[in-house]
Amino acid sequence: MQHYTHSLLTLRFSTLFFHAPMAFSHDLEVESSSPPLVFDVRRSEPELVAPAKPTPRENKLLSDIDTQAGLRIQIPIIQFYRNNQSMAGKDPVKAIRHALAETLVFYYPLAGRIKDGPDGSLVVDCNEEGVMFIEADADITLQQFGHTIKPPFPNFEELLYQPPGSEAVTNTPIFIIQVTRLKCGGFILALRFNHTIVDGVGVFQFATTMAGIARGVLQEPPFEPLWHRDLLRARDPPRVTFNHREYEQLTDSGDAVQQNFEQRSFFFGPAETAAIRALLPRDLDQHATTFEVLTSYVWRCRTRALQFNPKEDVRMMCIVDARGKFTSALLTNYYGSCFGFPASVAAAGELSSEPLEYAVRLIQKARSEVSEEYVHSVADLMATSGRPLFTVVRSCLVLDTTDIGFRDLDLGWGKAVYGGMAVAGAGTFPAVNFHVPSQNAKGEEGIMVLVSLPSQVMKIFAKELDDNLVKTNTTI
Ligand SMILES: *[C@@H]1O[C@H](CO)[C@@H](O)[C@H](O)[C@H]1NC(C)=O
Ligand SMILES: *[C@@H]1O[C@H](CO)[C@@H](O)[C@H](O)[C@H]1NC(C)=O
Repeated sequence: MQHYTHSLLTLRFSTLFFHAPMAFSHDLEVESSSPPLVFDVRRSEPELVAPAKPTPRENKLLSDIDTQAGLRIQIPIIQFYRNNQSMAGKDPVKAIRHALAETLVFYYPLAGRIKDGPDGSLVVDCNEEGVMFIEADADITLQQFGHTIKPPFPNFEELLYQPPGSEAVTNTPIFIIQVTRLKCGGFILALRFNHTIVDGVGVFQFATTMAGIARGVLQEPPFEPLWHRDLLRARDPPRVTFNHREYEQLTDSGDAVQQNFEQRSFFFGPAETAAIRALLPRDLDQHATTFEVLTSYVWRCRTRALQFNPKEDVRMMCIVDARGKFTSALLTNYYGSCFGFPASVAAAGELSSEPLEYAVRLIQKARSEVSEEYVHSVADLMATSGRPLFTVVRSCLVLDTTDIGFRDLDLGWGKAVYGGMAVAGAGTFPAVNFHVPSQNAKGEEGIMVLVSLPSQVMKIFAKELDDNLVKTNTTI
């Protein structure tokens, strides 16, 4: 039984999303000025998908990393798939719904509901209520999205519907999943997860099993999903052993209040990355990862564009997956949040005027801090300091998803054309950038950096990015 609600698109797409071509000489922006895409999405009533078999009924406590204020948000992921002749007659909605129910048997806490526990803790009630699933059809082809599929996606709120009442409350489904068939036989899988119970790597592990089951090559996870949240609970007695500048609670001096954020994706192909690397001394160039180089470059351009008081501190906080930093192998297949994001801190003036090397060294130093001890120290800080939010004033968070593998997730229709983060920003905090693996129109591999900035600043930022690349040939 399907009840379709017909939702005619009445949204006007802001011209902000479709810029007139700017003078980008380095292919930073692959496409521009296409007319706004307008299409209809017919959606069925959201349904709950429960585990395919009975699962344990129990309450499970989340960790002190999970329970930090900054994770009480939902993060959207989106996957675009082409039509595939070998799948003729197969329905992606059916295949995914089935695989989802099977996967939830192994990840049954995700089919439960999160509740408040004692002392600000969180508990998941494993009650098999299920995750929310939405079936949809869009009258558009994949080709119409253009050569390079990248955020911001037109009509995104129709591709990942947010049923009223499903946001910002406990007691709601942990995942919302929408599968939208496209006119060409391709489809879009969009998923929104509550970050208090899984992180990006955890969602990827879940999705890997779901994809394997959908393809018919798996019947269970290739590895046992591990709960073990006790491993990341505060120690007794708690010992905060690092100076966690990523959780400093600053009062805003006025210049950091920004509104009207706009999203844009910038592609850094081999040429752009080489031009930026040429700004660095050779030894540093050889010892810096592409993520570090691009993050430093974006941080500096962003700081210049935002024109903060030069004496004020700015922060770049790089999320570092910590699973591999633990001596215990139990963390390998852990699907809760297991990361740190130490802040690189610099005076805005200094960061803007110093050579790029300055930023790269700060970023490298901060990232290298993440260790097993570091994560325990964060858990202890959470338990003893009221589970603070990360620093939001003049700060930016960044996550590198290039190695997670979302683009390679094959549900039977081959690899995704675009896979991973659906929007820049996280919840009400817009200053979150993502690095997503991508290709430009020429088919060259590179990194798409999803950026969100106040709209009046975005143009200045884009010009900063470009100017610096142009200057590369002449000055260092
Ligand atoms: C995520 O779950 C937590 C814990 O239940 C809750 O406080 C928060 O509101 C949820 N976030 C969203 C955006 O649903
Ligand atoms: C079609 O799907 C098969 C099986 O997943 C995959 O191996 C193949 O690469 C896909 N073809 C295209 C054109 O994506």
